[in-house]
Amino acid sequence: MVHQRTTRRSPRTPKDSGTASPVNDENDSSLHNRPQVSIGGLQGLGLRRTPKRRKTSPTDDDTSPPVCTRKRARQQCGEIVTPSRKRDKSHDTTGKCEAIARNIASKNMDAVCTSASKRQEIQKDVQIDQQSAAMADAGGLSDGVGQGETVDILTAMKKSLHSSAIPDALIGRVKEYKQVQDFWHNCYAKKLSGALYISGSPGTGKTASVDMVEKEIHAWEKKQKRSKRMLVVKINCMSVITPRAIYTEIYTQITGGCVPMAGASEAVEGILCPEPADRAKLPMITVIVDEVDALSRNDKNVLYHLFELPQLKHSRLILIGIANTLDFTDRLLPRLRAKSCEPMSIVFNPYTRAEIVAILQGRISSVSERYEDKTVVADKMAVEFCARKISATSGDIRQAMEVLRKAVVVAAEQSKYKISCQSEGTQPTTASTPAIKVSVGHVLAVFKGNSNSAIVQKVKGLPLHHLIILLVYTTYVIENTAHNAKRMTVGKLHDTYSIWCREKIGAPVSNTDVTDILEMLQGMGILDVASRPANIRQREITLRADIKDIRKGVAHDEILKGHILAYDLKTGRTPQPTT
Ligand SMILES: Nc1ncnc2c1ncn2[C@@H]1O[C@H](COP(=O)(O)OP(=O)(O)O)[C@@H](O)[C@H]1O
Ligand SMILES: [Mg+2]
Repeated sequence: MVHQRTTRRSPRTPKDSGTASPVNDENDSSLHNRPQVSIGGLQGLGLRRTPKRRKTSPTDDDTSPPVCTRKRARQQCGEIVTPSRKRDKSHDTTGKCEAIARNIASKNMDAVCTSASKRQEIQKDVQIDQQSAAMADAGGLSDGVGQGETVDILTAMKKSLHSSAIPDALIGRVKEYKQVQDFWHNCYAKKLSGALYISGSPGTGKTASVDMVEKEIHAWEKKQKRSKRMLVVKINCMSVITPRAIYTEIYTQITGGCVPMAGASEAVEGILCPEPADRAKLPMITVIVDEVDALSRNDKNVLYHLFELPQLKHSRLILIGIANTLDFTDRLLPRLRAKSCEPMSIVFNPYTRAEIVAILQGRISSVSERYEDKTVVADKMAVEFCARKISATSGDIRQAMEVLRKAVVVAAEQSKYKISCQSEGTQPTTASTPAIKVSVGHVLAVFKGNSNSAIVQKVKGLPLHHLIILLVYTTYVIENTAHNAKRMTVGKLHDTYSIWCREKIGAPVSNTDVTDILEMLQGMGILDVASRPANIRQREITLRADIKDIRKGVAHDEILKGHILAYDLKTGRTPQPTT
């Protein structure tokens, strides 16, 4: 749905709608260059110093340093981690890791992290990201298999299958791409404010689709000779430490300046809703908030406020929110609907087997065509097998690429071994025989190895009550799968968990906290909570990860180890924890 401008919380009228009047290029470029300006400098950009309406924001409750330069602000307002605007770091583990590590290293650590569990969470993220980065590097057989050309294509193949690799083109997702394109293009071309909400589980191409549409709009602008007309702000909410910090981040990305947290939401409103005379001259601003679920943890008001911004009078905001959890959609949209700010909504379904095959084949053939080389090939059956396994569990394309990338590494290692045997006297490899052929066996080996790493690592780093919930839930599943019992509901889990805590360790956490924990576990791909019925206690929970891996992860906790061991030894149903 494309929003037209209107008075706050009042129905929109057509005469309020923005007109696609020509925009002054000087204004555009000044914004695009994002000069280092103080708040006073904003007047020159046609931006208001203070917002018109609100006196207080639901989110402003702290005192921050006065307006400052960007560098000083970073030291003083330690609450934000600014991702690079040049590339999307949402899936760049190294970049994300660096950003988080910077924050941890900062002296403001205690001030910026609201709780010990938050700190633990960040530290865990850093560890996991560092491990992933190390794994990715370990995959880089820089000295290759002893043949110059093979080394190059091998490296290229691994890069191409890395989840941070940006594809030349999107494969499939035609309908979803068109919906995003129509929304964005329409808002932009007609200078209408609007909000779009994209949801889908991880690795379903949400970020990639939005990035692709952005590129396409920039190309269109260039063709129209409307250079630098659109201003795009991208924020990955995982890198924003507190929800309120998103305002300072938006402000900084638009103006290059800095604003105290206390006045940030009003300052952002001021920029996004200029005077009518200025609006015609100023460019539309697109704000993309990726992984927006992260904003819902503590202060949901920020999230609701963001989606209300396109509704404000004279708003020039095109808001695109991207979320990884689906039940979050069910809670967010009704509230926005009640306030008449419901955004247009698009759901990205998990990839099917055929779609995964097409994307993987696309990545492989883009490399082999570029190199005109057949020294590294992936067997069709291997790609099919990988796609079938992933589509049966998550439909996450990132996981599929990771499995195939690791399979390439395994195959290369094997090939290296063969070549070293050949150099000791047997037949050399002929040009017609691929030096590295990825087979079903290699993919299978990766699946076996993987099950022992990703989920176990994720679970290992969780706080105690998250682990207890997983322990209680998996025990229920083990005990009830055999006789086709009903799935555990949120209510049942809460009751069982509370009894368990009171018996074994003390006070349980509240109902709301259990719901938040389940939401987080869902976001991590460990389990799913149904989005219906309305009574949350009656919603069923399903497993998304391997139960053995979950319990292995839980068993790393010193307190819970004994419970897992005692139970599993008795039933013999799950493996012993690894050390
Ligand atoms: N349809 C597609 N065609 C080609 N590559 C894709 C497609 N969908 C996703 N990818 C790639 O898969 C990876 C993960 O996709 P992404 O858009 O980040 O997922 P999400 O945002 O849904 O978690 C990225 O490297 C992206 O380029
Ligand atoms: Mg994404």
